[in-house]
Amino acid sequence: MTLLRLDASIRMDGSASRELADAVEHEWLAAYPGDTVVRRNLGIDVLPADAWPLAAAAGFLPDKARTREHRAAQALAATLVDEVLSADALLLAVPLYNFGISQHLKAWIDLIISDPRAGAGSAPVLAGKPVVLAVVRGGAYGPGTPRDGWDHATDYLKRILVDVWGADLTVVEREFTLVGVNPALDAFADLAADLHSGAVRAAHAAGRSLVRPAAAAA
Ligand SMILES: Cc1cc2nc3c(=O)[nH]c(=O)nc-3n(C[C@H](O)[C@H](O)[C@H](O)COP(=O)(O)O)c2cc1C
Repeated sequence: MTLLRLDASIRMDGSASRELADAVEHEWLAAYPGDTVVRRNLGIDVLPADAWPLAAAAGFLPDKARTREHRAAQALAATLVDEVLSADALLLAVPLYNFGISQHLKAWIDLIISDPRAGAGSAPVLAGKPVVLAVVRGGAYGPGTPRDGWDHATDYLKRILVDVWGADLTVVEREFTLVGVNPALDAFADLAADLHSGAVRAAHAAGRSLVRPAAAAA
């Protein structure tokens, strides 16, 4: 069994999204001790920014017109799709950055869609596959808050993972990760602590949900 874990945080230390992903991974490894976890630290070992335009352009060119750069970008996209297809489950840990997702995660998504096995008209690349999406936000975006509707990451990712790629998705969310960092949010300390512990509990439950009886018996 293989878990593909993608971390989009641009930092290693003190990362709230990695904490949630660690809880999910812990449950996966408890069910499948010693199993393979394939990792991509998308926010740190970043994919080349020009890979997607090259891979997308290559799709419109006859084979003999493709340059070495086009072929390298297509090979990278193919590797990313191979990782997705050969994983039994996926785990994505994603911070909200500037009200959306980072360019690094977007590059991963765009490169996958550039591959013929995952592009328009292909079978959904995650059809029925269990996926956990752990999203963290520095602020709060719920109904009634001043920034209700400003999170343009979570719904976008649901569209891609579920509606485009067919995943069986579980979402874990934690808000107010900047409480304790930004003094303007000090009044929310108790609420943030509750949200933190609730999110870690939800991440453990989501990790257990990745483990499917049929897969566990295999
Ligand atoms: C460059 C940058 C932009 C950010 N933009 C937002 C934002 O738009 N909304 C928000 O709620 N938090 C924002 N944050 C806060 C992060 O979402 C928060 O710190 C989160 O915990 C980061 O994930 P990590 O802890 O896994 O590194 C931003 C943080 C950084 C560094």
